[in-house]
Amino acid sequence: MSRIIVYGSCYGTTRQYAEELSKRTGIEVKAFKDIKNINDYSTVIYMGGLYAGGVEGMKKTLKGLTEIEDKKIIIATVGLADPTDDLNVKTIRNKMRSQLSPALFEKAEIFHLRGGIDYSNLSFLHKKMMSMVYKKALNIPEEEKTAEIRAMIETYDKKVYFVDLNSLDQIVDAI
Ligand SMILES: Cc1cc2nc3c(=O)[nH]c(=O)nc-3n(C[C@H](O)[C@H](O)[C@H](O)COP(=O)(O)O)c2cc1C
Repeated sequence: MSRIIVYGSCYGTTRQYAEELSKRTGIEVKAFKDIKNINDYSTVIYMGGLYAGGVEGMKKTLKGLTEIEDKKIIIATVGLADPTDDLNVKTIRNKMRSQLSPALFEKAEIFHLRGGIDYSNLSFLHKKMMSMVYKKALNIPEEEKTAEIRAMIETYDKKVYFVDLNSLDQIVDAI
């Protein structure tokens, strides 16, 4: 049985992490759309960009996973929110819990990486979504704004890039 790195990426930051991880570990890397049977692999490293709390492609890819007790499963999210902030991590994990079976959520080793965003490059739909989230965020009283919300307001309509390939070290160690 073999090992695989699978990624779900809309704008490339997650793909960049996945390809670098592949280079460092020698493990084959594929986009989630190219995976035919996830049960061909005994070690699955899933990396997905965060979109409104959902991990791109994760649910679709991992829902067919069987005999998880015999497998090694690593999941890494890539988002704008700072993963050194405990509240951000809590928010991401709570959302992930609803996208995975309880057994899979318990079994998976979970990591959080930081990506980037270039508003000028977003699809029409994503631009619309971010504009709605931004307008809503502006109405939140200052003392109730979380670090995640403040970061989103500060970076709105800009280009920011927080990709740090050194943050892959923790995943290399886990592998
Ligand atoms: C519509 C939209 C929703 C997003 N939602 C979140 C989110 O809930 N949490 C987060 O940390 N980042 C969020 N982001 C930021 C992306 O996760 C970030 O840009 C990431 O690097 C994207 O990965 P990709 O380049 O591989 O597609 C969102 C971005 C867009 C465009």
